[in-house]
Amino acid sequence: MEYAISISPQAERTVKDTTSIPFGVQPTEHMFVAEYKDGQWHNSRIVPFTNLSMSPFALCLHYGQTVFEGMKAFLMNDGHINIFRVDKHYERFAKSLERMCIPVVPKGLFTEALHQLVQLDASWVPDAEHGSLYLRPFVIASEERLGVKVADEYLFMIVCTPAYQYYAQPLKVRVEETYSRAADGGTGFAKCGGNYGGAFYPTKLAREAGYDQVIWTDSNTHEMIEESGTMNLMFVIDDTLITPPLSGTILDGVTRDSLLTLAKELGIPTDVRPVSYKEIQEALEAGKRVEAFGAGTAAVIAPIEIIAIQGKDYNCYIAEDATMYKLQRALYDIRKGIAPDNHNWNYII
Ligand code: COI
Repeated sequence: MEYAISISPQAERTVKDTTSIPFGVQPTEHMFVAEYKDGQWHNSRIVPFTNLSMSPFALCLHYGQTVFEGMKAFLMNDGHINIFRVDKHYERFAKSLERMCIPVVPKGLFTEALHQLVQLDASWVPDAEHGSLYLRPFVIASEERLGVKVADEYLFMIVCTPAYQYYAQPLKVRVEETYSRAADGGTGFAKCGGNYGGAFYPTKLAREAGYDQVIWTDSNTHEMIEESGTMNLMFVIDDTLITPPLSGTILDGVTRDSLLTLAKELGIPTDVRPVSYKEIQEALEAGKRVEAFGAGTAAVIAPIEIIAIQGKDYNCYIAEDATMYKLQRALYDIRKGIAPDNHNWNYII
């Protein structure tokens, strides 16, 4: 099925130097918008980036019926632009929408909207080693109603921002044993706004204590490692890449999935299994070389320098020969078109 998207470009085009602007501050010149009403998506359009006008009664403002994705487009060495893993992001978007009772955006519309928007704002894709165009598809409940209900009207939008390194420095993180991000049966696996808002308070406490992020643990025992603030978590111990399995409380990270695939291809043993913070603590106490890092679309690979466990700081291995950098390089080479894209991850514009 083809999706007709009307395009109204800015009369005058400008591209700013965005290299020193923090993540998520500078929009590109255009955005995509479609409205859901009477059981269908209507009026798909790309227009100059502008503010929204909506009723203070809009349901999303009160009951959190919102879902988003985080994706990236890259400038390849041959001058083409690709959007990374459109299919995998769409799969997760659809699952999140279902969990939040939001009508699933058709895959054709999702893909065509991304394609047209990135094509129009192609000059905003940074030509820098750690640069990319961050793409933020999202759906919000727009129906005007204060009564608590599943909305009948929605907006599907995509906005973009040039992105560089999300975390400029190796991270200091603290294992969280009091608060929970998600519980069994909840929305932890979905990329819904509330999961992030609910994480702010414990993260604020960790920041006040000198850490950048928390490591979330399971809500029953607070012993099993789940994920970190904006990323999945991975460890390398005894040369094996270890990460917790997906569950109802962990986001199905696209970078996580990509790194597991690449590790296997690079001959790095992988072990996807429950990991307790005690196991990490024991390995560190035993003087083993432990790598710890976050994996996410915005963060890519975020090395963890210090993990605080039960009030004690432990140093992780972040030297140049660390396995995480080999994985980072392998991912980079595919996205830039330096290495073959054996899995068809790059959607070339
Ligand atoms: C992403 O990595 O794309 C995220 O959504 C994390 C954060 C920027 C919210």
